Amino acid sequence: MERLQKVIASSGVTSRRKAEELITAGKVKVNGEVVTELGTKVTDKDRIEVENVLIAKEVKEYYLLNKPRGVVTTTSDDKGRKTVVDLIPTNARIYPVGRLDYDTTGVLLLTNDGDFANILMHPASEVEKVYMAKLKGIIKGEQINALKDGVKLDDQVVKPSRVKLKKVDPKTNTCMVQITIHEGKNHQVKRMFESVGFEVLKLKREKEAFFDLKDLQSGEFRKLTPKEVAKVYGLQK
Ligand code: URA
Repeated sequence: MERLQKVIASSGVTSRRKAEELITAGKVKVNGEVVTELGTKVTDKDRIEVENVLIAKEVKEYYLLNKPRGVVTTTSDDKGRKTVVDLIPTNARIYPVGRLDYDTTGVLLLTNDGDFANILMHPASEVEKVYMAKLKGIIKGEQINALKDGVKLDDQVVKPSRVKLKKVDPKTNTCMVQITIHEGKNHQVKRMFESVGFEVLKLKREKEAFFDLKDLQSGEFRKLTPKEVAKVYGLQK
């Protein structure tokens, strides 16, 4: 179920504000009846006419991108930088599900399906995100334990579900740590490591829910299969 004005706007015929004007002016029909109520909810099955022209429904599209560095996770950038949407050739109005920082790489989903995006982002779904972080310095067991006990971000204690030290390089004084979280706060992983005294030099999302980077080089993308889309719908609580 979606709001009528939203469905009209996403079909590409006009903006959402213009759609609202058309509705209140009595120029929109749902299943042959004029509807002037702005909050009216419609489904995929409803026939919507704007000024007696049937609108085309936007087909839902779903992509998995291996986000490269140096690309912003938005649909447009006021500084003219390249966005993740620029990497995918489509006319559908897709947008990223959640955020990765400009310099963060890895798993990023994009879609024009708001329900799909909400399921993945809703805290109740408890979707796991696995990150590999390269840290400046070498983390000790007690610092890993402090992370596991939970750190305070934005007045909320966040606890990773797993933290694993994967590699230590004394020569460059760096280490690789894999961390699994459920939330999606701004700069969450960087801030979590910062709170135990470490700077993140590189960050890659290796996994979100059951999506990983198998067969995708940096900057490459693929469409999701209908099975994968259904599986995401199955995560809904
Ligand atoms: N945590 C961060 O700090 N940055 C990201 O891009 C994702 C998670």
